[in-house]
Amino acid sequence: MTTTPAAAAAAAGAPGGPVRSLGSTGPAVFPLGLGCMGMSALYGEADRGESLATIHAALDAGVTLLDTGDFYGMGHNELLISEALRTAPAAARERALTSVKFGALRTVEGGFTGYDGRPEAVRNFLAYSLQRLGRDHIDIYRIARVDPAVPIEETVGAIAEAVEAGHVRHIGLSEVGADTLRRAAAVAPIADLQIEYSLISRGIEREILPTARELGIGVTAYGVLSRGLLSGHFTRDRELAPGDFRGMSPRFQGENLDRNLALVEALRTVADGKGVSVAQTAIAWVLSRGGDIVPLVGARRRDRLAEALGAMEVVLSAADLAAVEEAVPAGAAAGERYPAAQMAHLDSER
Ligand SMILES: NC(=O)c1ccc[n+]([C@@H]2O[C@H](COP(=O)([O-])OP(=O)(O)OC[C@H]3O[C@@H](n4cnc5c(N)ncnc54)[C@H](OP(=O)(O)O)[C@@H]3O)[C@@H](O)[C@H]2O)c1
Repeated sequence: MTTTPAAAAAAAGAPGGPVRSLGSTGPAVFPLGLGCMGMSALYGEADRGESLATIHAALDAGVTLLDTGDFYGMGHNELLISEALRTAPAAARERALTSVKFGALRTVEGGFTGYDGRPEAVRNFLAYSLQRLGRDHIDIYRIARVDPAVPIEETVGAIAEAVEAGHVRHIGLSEVGADTLRRAAAVAPIADLQIEYSLISRGIEREILPTARELGIGVTAYGVLSRGLLSGHFTRDRELAPGDFRGMSPRFQGENLDRNLALVEALRTVADGKGVSVAQTAIAWVLSRGGDIVPLVGARRRDRLAEALGAMEVVLSAADLAAVEEAVPAGAAAGERYPAAQMAHLDSER
């Protein structure tokens, strides 16, 4: 955590560079991953050239894990990553690890109609993803949400077959609860659970995180800035594009937004006191939760990426951690982390 981005860049891929392991069976990765979703979906228009430059800058800085979903822009995000990797220096391309979510069923209009975790669907999704990514394997493959009609054992069993065949290296899970973690881990080794975790989304601490630790499963934490809410850059008067997730997210509505932004201002006081930014403090807090947790940062621009990487320089002392948690107490967020219809898909919230 004391490594500077410059030192990280110098050490990129070199033995002794900063790493965290994804569970007891997963790959070693740079301590921050890049979540590429916002470059294709959910946060309004993204600039393609800047997206590619951001992926390249992340790889240059030593980032190894690139997270995507085949449904992010319905293939757009995988094609973007494919282009970024094709045009990156060979050494960076070889170090890069792809983490892909699948299973979401979409409509032409962009709607989500459910999830398909049947083994034949897994094989179909995988074939398309490999083609779009232009790679002969995916490093970590996971269903985005559990398909309630298909036992998790069958979905994970199908990914395990793809591991056997060499098309996938590791199996991951996304937004599942402790029981599902145990059932999946009984079928095959699980590298990591991808799940929302931030100062204002601490639900995993009670049962899910201890279970993952017991089973030797790592955590890739998403939403560490709570979709930008905790970044210190989000303002009350920000205009959101049609289809922006935040336009529907309970935490960004009316009074909830006011209350949540008040928490951000309290956090800003702590961040200012340390001479770092709000986003860096929020990311550093997640990094401080354990060496088995790898935050995915959703930077879409190089300036945001540079800010996020700076979190690795932030050392939070016991007094700092107490101040951060006093500013943003556990459970203080106003509003759920997803709209009700999407909460219903979360095995992790049962
Ligand atoms: N498994 C799942 O269910 C799931 C769900 C959601 C996401 N994910 C994965 O997790 C990744 C991260 O999630 P997320 O994008 O929601 O999380 P996030 O990092 O909490 O939020 C990203 C948002 O924060 C804003 N931001 C402001 N300052 C930033 C900074 N310094 N660094 C990074 N972002 C900054 C971005 O800004 P601008 O608007 O200014 O660009 C963007 O809108 C996704 O890309 C995706 O790969 C997984």
